[in-house]
Amino acid sequence: MVMSSKEHPPSRIPLSVPSVGEGELENLRSCIETSWVSSAGPYVREFENRLAELAGTKNAVATASGTSALHLSLIVAGVKRDEEVLVSTLSFIAPANAVAYTGAVPVFVDADPKTWQMCPVLVEKFLREDCKIRNGDVFNKKSGRKISAILPVHILGGVVEMAPLLALAKEFNLPIIEDATEGLGAIYQGKPVGTIGEVGCYSFNGNKLITCGGGGMIVSDHSRWAKRARHLSTQAKSDPAEYIHDEIGFNYRLTNLQAALGCAQLDKFERYVLRKKEIASAYKSLCNEIDGLNFMPDPEWSESVFWLSAIAIDPHGFGMGSRSLLKKAGEQGIEMRPLWQPLHLSPAYKGSMMLGGSVAEDLFKKVLCVPSSVDLDNENLERVLTFIKESSQSK
Ligand SMILES: Cc1ncc(COP(=O)(O)O)c(C=O)c1O
Repeated sequence: MVMSSKEHPPSRIPLSVPSVGEGELENLRSCIETSWVSSAGPYVREFENRLAELAGTKNAVATASGTSALHLSLIVAGVKRDEEVLVSTLSFIAPANAVAYTGAVPVFVDADPKTWQMCPVLVEKFLREDCKIRNGDVFNKKSGRKISAILPVHILGGVVEMAPLLALAKEFNLPIIEDATEGLGAIYQGKPVGTIGEVGCYSFNGNKLITCGGGGMIVSDHSRWAKRARHLSTQAKSDPAEYIHDEIGFNYRLTNLQAALGCAQLDKFERYVLRKKEIASAYKSLCNEIDGLNFMPDPEWSESVFWLSAIAIDPHGFGMGSRSLLKKAGEQGIEMRPLWQPLHLSPAYKGSMMLGGSVAEDLFKKVLCVPSSVDLDNENLERVLTFIKESSQSK
């Protein structure tokens, strides 16, 4: 029986899915054929070298995930149990968890309404007014704990305003660990995000700009830190032959299979960045046309990569709130997604200290991420744009 076109359900448009093909298959085949499937193998080093070149850093250390990259970065930066780390509240939960794995405690920082990213003004106010210096270290007056690092998260492929954070980090002698897991391809004042602080982390999980299936990378010019991170990622084994371990390490190393996938993905990096920007530009134009929609900030001092395009929906102007639009989109086979619950509100971090709060809470209510896969074709992009446009009239 032939189905009429009317009977065809519209195809589902996912939020962000990987684009893999022949190049990935070829690399994976070579791993299988040579039996180099585990963490030893040529693709791991190739992937590290190519990432270091792309980022322009002296070192790149491959890890099993972005979360493990963050965990190791915090350790090598000297973060210890019962210390505190300043972390963006408007973020996926992984960076806060990485802080918790070290035994340290996150102090959450609200978003800046101009960028949706960590607000440097709140960080400054906290360090100047709510902290005291003792023997060159900074202590939170309220908790009594030492502040040991700043962990800004570049969310959605946008860019944190780094200059004021860098100045504060210098003045208060704090390392900056950048969570650039969503920011590969974004640029801040001519430098890739992830390379502005002491150490930066990328993720290659399935929905990121490039994927290894799962995986992460630490980039840094601190060769000693990078060396230690690599050492810790392989159970801190200190003798090439004997099972002797000089400290407690982790099994955090990327496998050759994953790196093989990553290398094939890197071949398409520039095309992916371009497509993300084209998709963002279409959504941005739509937001300029329609009342009640605001596209994610794109300040002139940065070059966002728009890993996920995101739109803030004002229910009064648009005629419908974000959650109603989310539901309606789902019924049409269009996958949208809200932002993460701000971490200071998460049951996992109940009772944590919070600097500010209302900006992230407001964005959480209003913002939806919209389909942004690199393989989203113009026909389906148009379908999403038309759907949003038509929804604006259904008051
Ligand atoms: C902001 C942020 N940080 C960290 C991570 C953790 O990366 P992974 O999933 O590779 O552990 C992710 C995403 O997954 C993320 O979005």
